[in-house]
This record gives sequence, structure tokens and C-alpha cells, in this order.
Amino acid sequence: MTGAAHDWAERVRQSQQRLERRERAMVDRGRDPGLIRRIVDKAEAKLEQCQRVHRDRHPRPAAGVSHKSYASLKQLANIRGFQGEPPNIWLVGPVGSGKTSAAAQLARDLALPFHFNGAIDNEYKLKGFLDAQGRLISPSFRKAYEHGGIYLFDECDASMPGAVLAFNAALSNGACDFPDGEIQRHPDCIIIAAANTWGHGATHDYVGRMKQDAAFLDRFVQLAWDYDEELEHAMSGNRRWSARVQAIRSAIADLGIHHIVSPRASYWGAVLLAAGVPEDQVLAMKVRGALDDKQWQQVLDQAA
Ligand SMILES: Nc1ncnc2c1ncn2[C@@H]1O[C@H](COP(=O)(O)OP(=O)(O)O)[C@@H](O)[C@H]1O
Ligand SMILES: [Mg+2]
Repeated sequence: MTGAAHDWAERVRQSQQRLERRERAMVDRGRDPGLIRRIVDKAEAKLEQCQRVHRDRHPRPAAGVSHKSYASLKQLANIRGFQGEPPNIWLVGPVGSGKTSAAAQLARDLALPFHFNGAIDNEYKLKGFLDAQGRLISPSFRKAYEHGGIYLFDECDASMPGAVLAFNAALSNGACDFPDGEIQRHPDCIIIAAANTWGHGATHDYVGRMKQDAAFLDRFVQLAWDYDEELEHAMSGNRRWSARVQAIRSAIADLGIHHIVSPRASYWGAVLLAAGVPEDQVLAMKVRGALDDKQWQQVLDQAA
């Protein structure tokens, strides 16, 4: 325990002892038991409130916690096909579920370089291009393809379908036709696409997603990446708050309201609370979004 945490625990213990002494003294003086109970309950509630505020001010996010599906991702990254090729992995899950972080974690774990790019609108963002001196301007994909590494094609499903078609041969043939010639795929070039959809086009929540070509999607093994509530608690470091966020999220789902409350609300909410921002303001800044008064009240009632 740190010095500050130890002092705090000691102060709580002393307050509890004081309360017990006071309760005994009231009993000895023959005070009304109902009155004693009410006084003690009130004092205990106040102590609990102080402890809660103290906990909010000192969140301790747990380090090194992995997503519940991380073991499956790592297993896939270590598997090789009958020709020695790794599977291409499509991570699909809601915003803030930890897809980008998991790809970076995998690179660290496997001691491989990490390369990534976001959605693309033309094939040169993947394959690169030759500059005026004939030198290849080499994008992330090329680096990972030639020398190995984790290549994350982040927000892949927001790409133009025509742009990613150029990728198809590279994904399944073991070689890719770059502007400066054909390059063989490195045996440790692990390709991960992160997406909010299964590649079948825009949904109510993810309106910027494109329907991708079936021949492109077929080249991936798909791994669902949902919210991991234990990871969410760990990264917020404030379980009381992240539990409240989770209750609000499930109330929103139960009520059939379209509104996303991602684990970032748990994380940033905990940060804001720790900085002393009052909880109702934190809710307004990171949870409520554009919900109107009636919807918000319904959500709070449902979550209570
Ligand atoms: N294993 C983890 N440990 C700690 N924090 C994490 C972990 N995974 C995700 N996060 C945090 O959760 C938030 C959302 O993660 P991110 O990887 O950006 O999600 P996504 O790519 O699915 O939208 C980020 O703030 C990130 O730092
Ligand atoms: Mg991401």
C-alpha cells in the first residue's frame, strides 16, 4: 500500500473505532435503541460516501490485463496453413472494444514490428507508389509484407471496396505485385483487419461503413471482439464508476435506444472523476450524448 493509501485506510479504521465507542456509550447511557440505530446508520453512510469519493480520486488502472478474446487472437497469429502461411484475421466488434490495442499488444508479445493504417480510398495507400526519382514510397503494408510484422488495417470496413480489391491477391497468393516489382510475403507477416461490421455495409450505428466485396471478405478468418467488462473495470481503475457505465449501457440496450456508451466512457469518466469533476457533469460529458431529457430519465430509471 502506498503511504497515502495507508494513511487513508488508517483514518477510516479510526473513524470506525470512534463510531463503535460512541455507539457503546449511547447504549450504556440507556438511549433509545431505534435512535442509536439511526445515528449509527447515518454515520456509516457518511463514511461510505467519503470512502467512495476517495476511491474516485485515486483510481488505479490495472496494468497488463488482456481482453477475454486475446488468447484466441494470439493462437490464430501462431497458426500456419499447409503452405506455411498465417491466417488473415478480421477482428469485428463495437467501437472501443479494444481491437486496435489488441493488435499492438500482439506485436509486443510476439516481438514483431507493428505497422498500421486506417481506412483507404485508393490502392496506393497499400501498395505505395514510385516518386519522381523512381524510389518506392513504401507504406505500412509493404513494410510488413516484405519484412514481417503485425500489419493492422484499422477501420478496414470504412475503406472504398474498389481500393481494397487490389489487396486480394496479396492476401491469398503469398506474393504481391508492388509498383517496383513482385514481393514474396514474409512468413511472419500477420495481417489483421479491424472493423465495426462484418463487412456487409453500413448499420444504424456505423453509417460510414461500406459493403465489401465477397472475394475480399472470404480471405479472412473472423474473430468477434465484443466488450469485455472485466477489462473495462481494470482500465478504469474505478469499479463503482465502470459498473455504473455498464448498467447504463445495458439499460440503453434493454430500452432499444440507439446510443453507444463504449468502455472509453468508463476510462475517461474515471479520469474526470479523479480530477474532481462532479459525477452528473461526467455523465453529461461522456455518457449521455444526444439523448433527450425523456430518454435520459428512462435510461437512469432502468439502470437504477
Ligand atoms: N488490454 C487493455 N489494457 C488497457 N487498456 C486498454 C486495453 N484494451 C483497450 N484499452 C483501452 O480502451 C480504449 C479503447 O481501445 P481501442 O483499442 O482503441 O478500441 P477499438 O480499436 O476497438 O475502438 C483505449 O483507451 C485503450 O487504451
Ligand atoms: Mg480502433
